[in-house]
Amino acid sequence: MKTAIIYYSKYGTTEQVAHLIGKKLDNEVDYISLKKCPKPDIRSYDRIILGTSIYAGTPSRMVTQFCNKNQPLLEQKVIGLFICCMNKEQEAEEMNKAFPEYLQSLVIPKAILGGEFQFDKMNFIERFLTKKIAKASSSVSRLRYDAIKEFVDKVN
Ligand SMILES: Cc1cc2nc3c(=O)[nH]c(=O)nc-3n(C[C@H](O)[C@H](O)[C@H](O)COP(=O)(O)O)c2cc1C
Repeated sequence: MKTAIIYYSKYGTTEQVAHLIGKKLDNEVDYISLKKCPKPDIRSYDRIILGTSIYAGTPSRMVTQFCNKNQPLLEQKVIGLFICCMNKEQEAEEMNKAFPEYLQSLVIPKAILGGEFQFDKMNFIERFLTKKIAKASSSVSRLRYDAIKEFVDKVN
């Protein structure tokens, strides 16, 4: 089964998670960053795993646009969905909003896989907001390795 993991990652965490997932999958995987390749051709893939990070409660616009533009094709594929985020209280709602209804309504693997604050990569405003809202003052990684494993098991 030919698989593509298609993701948007601002500072690299979702990209890192995409690779952790891909390394554990049974078949060969192509990694497609929507930042580098906003309009990928997905016709040749049987399985598409979609991932986005969450900022200010919302998914990447590029992921939303990709899902909207490719609906007829995505409806023919085997799908898995994941998000990377840091707000435990909001994460279930963020997951529900992260992908369009036509994907959310499918019975498919969906997962919230944790996230990271990388202060060294943030700009001044992001650092300020992260300190004020998330009360974090230095870099922290909260990737959910167990959830990643569970997600891959379901996808496989
Ligand atoms: C400015 C800023 C805003 C964020 N807003 C949210 C948010 O609303 N909800 C959330 O769950 N996580 C939020 N996060 C956490 C990111 O989702 C997390 O850092 C994620 O790992 C980023 O992944 P990326 O490097 O792949 O973009 C925010 C992070 C930053 C720096």
